[in-house]
Amino acid sequence: MKRNGRFKGRSICVVGDLSADEQRYLYRKARELKAELGAGGDAAGFRIADPDYSAYLVFLENSTRTRESFRNAALFHRVRATMFDAASSSFAKNESLTDAIKMLVGYAPESCFVIRSKLEGVCGWLADYLGPWAERSGYARPSFINAGDGKHEHPTQEFLDEFSFLEQLGWKDERIHLALIGDLRHGRTVHSKADGLRIFKDVVVDLVAPPELAMPPEYVARMRRNGFEVREWGSLDEYLASGKAAAIWYFTRLQLERMGESVLEKAPALRRAVTFRRDMLDRLPDGARFYHPLPRDRLAPTIPGFLDDTALNAWDAQSANGYYTRAVQMAMLSGAIGDDFEGEGPASRPDDEAFVVEAAINPRSKPEYKVGIKPVESGLVIDHIASGEPIEEIWNRVDKIRRVLGLNLRSSHGVYHTNSGAYKGIVSVPDLLSFGEKELKRLGAASPGCTLNLVQDGAVVRKYRLGMPPRIYNFDDIACRNENCVSHPSHQEHVETSFERRRGGDAFVCRWCEREHSYSEIWRD
Ligand code: NCD
Repeated sequence: MKRNGRFKGRSICVVGDLSADEQRYLYRKARELKAELGAGGDAAGFRIADPDYSAYLVFLENSTRTRESFRNAALFHRVRATMFDAASSSFAKNESLTDAIKMLVGYAPESCFVIRSKLEGVCGWLADYLGPWAERSGYARPSFINAGDGKHEHPTQEFLDEFSFLEQLGWKDERIHLALIGDLRHGRTVHSKADGLRIFKDVVVDLVAPPELAMPPEYVARMRRNGFEVREWGSLDEYLASGKAAAIWYFTRLQLERMGESVLEKAPALRRAVTFRRDMLDRLPDGARFYHPLPRDRLAPTIPGFLDDTALNAWDAQSANGYYTRAVQMAMLSGAIGDDFEGEGPASRPDDEAFVVEAAINPRSKPEYKVGIKPVESGLVIDHIASGEPIEEIWNRVDKIRRVLGLNLRSSHGVYHTNSGAYKGIVSVPDLLSFGEKELKRLGAASPGCTLNLVQDGAVVRKYRLGMPPRIYNFDDIACRNENCVSHPSHQEHVETSFERRRGGDAFVCRWCEREHSYSEIWRD
């Protein structure tokens, strides 16, 4: 059977790699698969059923449910499945992950990699780098599935969670009101909710965590940008006292392995704030159900064992759903299903060019640009550098422009008054008249807000105003500040550093781990 579904060769690195419509398609298919298998059917229409298709399960951090549900899903698909873990493979031999995976791509005509790693953004990087490499080398574009990357995301857990919520809500997606409880700071499954809950039209999220374990502000902001109503409480007692509790409670454990010393010391008190107690039972709203990505801490579970055999237990059925939803994701990415999808795909990446705007020239104004004391007759003048910033910053920016553009030519630079009395930098380069698109991008990245003037025979003939570029990449002196990011220089994965400006804002988001940076933070000190 030909596998040519529209998801073939795609990857699931973050929840947003599937649009809301595509996520709905996944839930519909998983529901069909679950029903068919539940009725004793063979579900042949879902299977990859190709012994040459390779599924690699690369688990460099511990996992039980995620790994086993993927392994079983691979068995369901009747494909070649290979397991790797940190201890028993060449990944322990100081080899870069990029090299190791590249080698594996060469062992089968088509492959899918399910990867759990502490390196945040690793799947996005591998998909971007090895996809084109595989095609150039005569293999099908491999798919990557993120099975949890550090504190970043856990999209396949998110999909099984949403599937479970929909199942409880009778497949209605009008409205969801849920509480996220526990370690919202380090838990990746709750971070993925910021995009995963978008399949509901109306979303109210209650965050219940003491400040040390609070949801990172960038995820709260993302939830709000996605139109969710977000409310916050510091403990379960406060939450229940508010009288506003949701019926869907999503607990997480304290991620002790990711905590710094200072938070770790307080762990018992923090855990108490988010652990359910017997005396809370009669304050729960009608129809309350508890979810948990699991595992629960055996010694100090946030959902205690006395609730296991009560109607509150939704977590057992939830974890079983991992099998169906993951089997469907593998079917989608292999192209076995997907032809019957209807709806919109994911949003495109930001446009590279839009930040350069040609500005009008006043034909009567006399250019005052000078090299030292001589006016520029012919050449380039970069003006309004860091206009209005403190003088030290302006000089830094002038330095950066010279460095980034390699302007080691006859030229001059200086800091001058602007018309409004503040300061700005100017760099003038006589005789240089060609300035390619690449240089324009580099200039915009090094000094957003400046203008570039082309002067000929003593007159400005062209003027460009450079805004904040939508992407900054391919510079030696930029780096992501997140030490767990796959692109962080300490990991030696030789990943290209790349930032994308958030639409409508000034924050620069690392292309791989999505950590937000201000403009000045992206440059190495
Ligand atoms: C979660 C994870 O690994 O992020 N577990 C899982 O995949 N089911 C949650 C956790 O470890 O607490």
